[in-house]
Amino acid sequence: MTAPGETSSKLLLFGATGDLARRMLLPSLYALHSDGLVPDELQIIGTARSEMSDDEFRQMAREALEEHLPEDRKDPKALESFPERLSYQALDASTIEGFDALAEKVGDTSGGLSIFLSTAPFLFEPTIKGLESAGLAGNNVRIGLEKPLGNDLASSREINDAVAAVFPEERIFRIDHYLGKETVQNLMALRFANMLFEPVWNAAHIEHVQITVSETVGLEGRAGFYDETGALRDMVQNHMLQLLALTAMEPPGDFDSTAIRDEKVKVLRALRPLGPEESVRGQYTDGAVGGEAVGSYEADLDDSSDTETFVALRAHVDNWRWQGVPFYLRTGKRLAERRSEIVVQFRCVPHNIFGKRGGQLQANTLVIRLQPEEYVRLLVMAKEPGLDSEKVILREVPLDLSLSQAFAGTVRRIAYERLLLDLIEGDQTLFVRRDEVEAQWQWIDAIRAGWAESGLAAKPYSAGSWGPSAGIALTERDGVSWHE
Ligand code: BG6
Repeated sequence: MTAPGETSSKLLLFGATGDLARRMLLPSLYALHSDGLVPDELQIIGTARSEMSDDEFRQMAREALEEHLPEDRKDPKALESFPERLSYQALDASTIEGFDALAEKVGDTSGGLSIFLSTAPFLFEPTIKGLESAGLAGNNVRIGLEKPLGNDLASSREINDAVAAVFPEERIFRIDHYLGKETVQNLMALRFANMLFEPVWNAAHIEHVQITVSETVGLEGRAGFYDETGALRDMVQNHMLQLLALTAMEPPGDFDSTAIRDEKVKVLRALRPLGPEESVRGQYTDGAVGGEAVGSYEADLDDSSDTETFVALRAHVDNWRWQGVPFYLRTGKRLAERRSEIVVQFRCVPHNIFGKRGGQLQANTLVIRLQPEEYVRLLVMAKEPGLDSEKVILREVPLDLSLSQAFAGTVRRIAYERLLLDLIEGDQTLFVRRDEVEAQWQWIDAIRAGWAESGLAAKPYSAGSWGPSAGIALTERDGVSWHE
């Protein structure tokens, strides 16, 4: 389970005509094809409900690539040859009947089959059963599962049980696309490939950690799903808790799927249940984002709703390393900026020797920016140049590691390229294990139960702001400001 498996010669893509496939999966597979990273024999079979011939599917793929690939990734030869890998079979996954025809289309699976399943939650179980009945779940078949995998612990267990009845855990690849982001993997490199950080990566030296994933977009045509889900379950339960786990985990013994996931799950299990004053819910009202007027959430939804589009939390990891260190998390739609970052705020030095000469100190801050830019920035104190011996003026200056500059010339890849390649090659390191998902849900369910009990309403915030003022008060109470 720790070593990558055999590379599959076939990939079966559920939801092949959907938005994710068009925007992310097909462009990612094209990029892997164009760079020669997948085997020549790899065949990609798409399936979805709509009737379509192979040629029509290829045409749909061409159009998706035309629309979603950056111009500099469009290589005429690769664009021409990529669709040759594609074929298509229509399937109504709600009934078992169509699966035999699907299996026939997939054909011989002795060279290994990887399945990418992104489907509506109610189709999960019938799809898994259909795959089994058609012989598409054998030993050399692995399955990638895209969210949403349930909407609470109980429903996630149901899905996981249904999958586990057919596929063992070593062949289940639960996708959290944040783990495919280059800078997220870089967080591990920063922590465990450098001597500098790990000795001070604890409560004795770190005062608090902030994790922000802010978005400027609104509902993006997903009103029904989003209104059922809300920011806590859409973003915190998965992406943000994974970021927290990678930030807080102990050093794993090895860079492999078992060692890393063992350490992450310990963090997730050590999350302290939130107190009543430790969470804030918000919902956007009219405002302006990037200079453009935008409507409220309820206008976008065309209904009234109490679903949160913003959430801020004050979390704690109850173990020795992190005792007393708050992890502030915030995420939301229609915020001032699109930004994902982890900010590690160190403590002040124990004694300021420059005080008598006017030197004021600020504690070091480490900013790990995941997007839109990718950098690691360490804010350190430096002396301002000058000859006045009476005075030592100190100023915070950034030590910058811009990943896009340091690695200029290497292709910036989207997360799904990494994850699809790992799925095809059978490496589970960047996929989420069942025990992690369940620990995540357990913590999230308790937050939601607390909200239901206290009747915590979503506070309005203007679109284009940084969320409701209560989100700011959450940290200010501790004398902490959000990093902006
Ligand atoms: C998805 C959420 O998982 O992540 C979306 O469902 C969100 O609501 C998206 O917009 C954000 O991903 P990224 O990679 O753009 O930060």
